[in-house]
Amino acid sequence: MFLKIAPDLADADKADIAAAALEEGIDALIVSNTTIARPASLKSPYKDETGGLSGRPLFAPSTALLREFHQSLGGRVPIIGAGGVFSAEDAYEKIRAGASLVQLYTALIYKGPALVAEIVGRLPRLLRRDGFQSLAAAVGT
Ligand SMILES: Cc1cc2nc3c(=O)[nH]c(=O)nc-3n(C[C@H](O)[C@H](O)[C@H](O)COP(=O)(O)O)c2cc1C
Repeated sequence: MFLKIAPDLADADKADIAAAALEEGIDALIVSNTTIARPASLKSPYKDETGGLSGRPLFAPSTALLREFHQSLGGRVPIIGAGGVFSAEDAYEKIRAGASLVQLYTALIYKGPALVAEIVGRLPRLLRRDGFQSLAAAVGT
């Protein structure tokens, strides 16, 4: 059973979710779903539409939240990193922040399914560059 969380949580909610994840034995957290926030950097004429915002503007906040949960859970619950991953470098940043697995959605629409092979192909070089023997060794570092 995986629990997927929103990036727009109050601090009290984060603490409750972390405690529940540990107590209830959730198999993994997915961090994160889309955001209801509208960053000032958005330029699209649709920027004020309601609904969940995904893709690039979600990368920084979802990665920061992932890092926060990895630290508060002390690595005891695996985390699936999602939000704005468009490249191997993005996936690697999620892994370093604490993701054991990475989920793509929006980037597949822009770049197509070949992106998956591109990311998987480029990750070993990034791991070797930083002296990791395995992907697992890089999680949360
Ligand atoms: C059109 C659309 C539909 C989505 N539907 C779901 C859904 O049904 N369940 C879910 O857990 N997440 C859903 N998501 C969230 C994505 O799985 C993902 O967590 C989020 O978009 C952030 O990743 P991304 O920036 O790579 O898209 C949806 C996202 C989009 C853009």
